[in-house]
Parts: sequence; structure tokens; C-alpha cells
Amino acid sequence: MIVMTKKTLRVTKIKDGTVIDHISSGHALDVLKILGVTGRVAGVVTVAMNVPSKRHGAKDMLKIEGRELNSKEVDKIALLAPHATINIVRNYKVLGKQRVKLPEIIRGIMKCANPACVSNSDEPVQPTFYVEKEDPLRIRCHYCGHIMEKQDVLTQF
Ligand code: CTP
Ligand code: ZN
Repeated sequence: MIVMTKKTLRVTKIKDGTVIDHISSGHALDVLKILGVTGRVAGVVTVAMNVPSKRHGAKDMLKIEGRELNSKEVDKIALLAPHATINIVRNYKVLGKQRVKLPEIIRGIMKCANPACVSNSDEPVQPTFYVEKEDPLRIRCHYCGHIMEKQDVLTQF
């Protein structure tokens, strides 16, 4: 008797879009939130959590079809998933692979969580933060010294 076993791919390849790979386990939903991907946007989005990974033991992964992320979006991902890899896929091929990178100084992607901060007033100052620690995230406002962590960032998106 021949026993046939069928092994299938856990997640299939996509034709066009972005694969965000090597997200630390447990952070896929945070990345979706920061990108504004809710259940109400068009396009296929695949979320894979706790996938076995050669490099990190387990990882999360996101496949967003029909969408290529811009550099501002990539910078936002670095805040929550500093080890992620962004793969741009066109016609089934990985055309670009980019490790996200958190800069030492963050400008223009979020605001200070301190309502009294001068960067939240009508003054023309651009919110600016220094990265004190990447993982877990700890950033300090240039203007008021307020310390922000992952949760403070997430509530803005
Ligand atoms: N991928 C996909 N659809 C494609 C091509 C690739 O979903 N048409 C996914 C792969 O499943 C993988 C990621 O995109 O999760 C990166 O693909 P690739 O560079 O081929 O894999 P690796 O070499 O394993 O990537 P890395 O070295 O970054 O781990
Ligand atoms: Zn501030």
C-alpha cells in the first residue's frame, strides 16, 4: 500500500507587493497598525505569526499584495520591528531587499506624547527624537526630554 502525504506551503508566494519578513515574534499586528492596514482596506494581506525561522527561532511575517511601501513607511516599521527585512516583489521575483534601519535621530514620522511640548504648539518646530534604545524601544524628545516607548508610538497610529 502506498501512503501519499501531501506537504503544502504554509504561505504561498505573492505576485506583486511587499513582504515584511523577520519581524520579531508578536509584533506583526503592531506593524499592521503603524502602516494603517485595517481589515477595511482593499487587497490581500497575509499575516503569519510564530513561523519557524533559521535565524531567530520564530518570527512574524506580513505579505501585503499590490502595495509597495515608501521610505517613510519603512522608517516607521523600524520603530517597532528593528530586525525586519522589506522585500519588494514584482511578478513573483524579489526585486529589492532592504533591512530596516532606525536612524539615531527621528524626524517627521510622529509627534511627542507630551501635550505641553513646544513641538505640539503652534510654533513651527519639527518633532525630533533621539533613539536611546532600539529593542525595546526608548526614544527621547529633543525639546522636552519626554521619554517614549513602543506603546506611546503605537497609540498615534
Ligand atoms: N516571497 C513571497 N513571494 C514571492 C517571493 C518571495 O512571498 N514572489 C517571500 C518569501 O517567502 C520570503 C521573502 O519573500 O519570506 C523573501 O524572499 P527570498 O529573498 O526569496 O527568501 P530568503 O532568501 O529566504 O530571504 P532572507 O535571506 O531575507 O531570509
Ligand atoms: Zn516633547
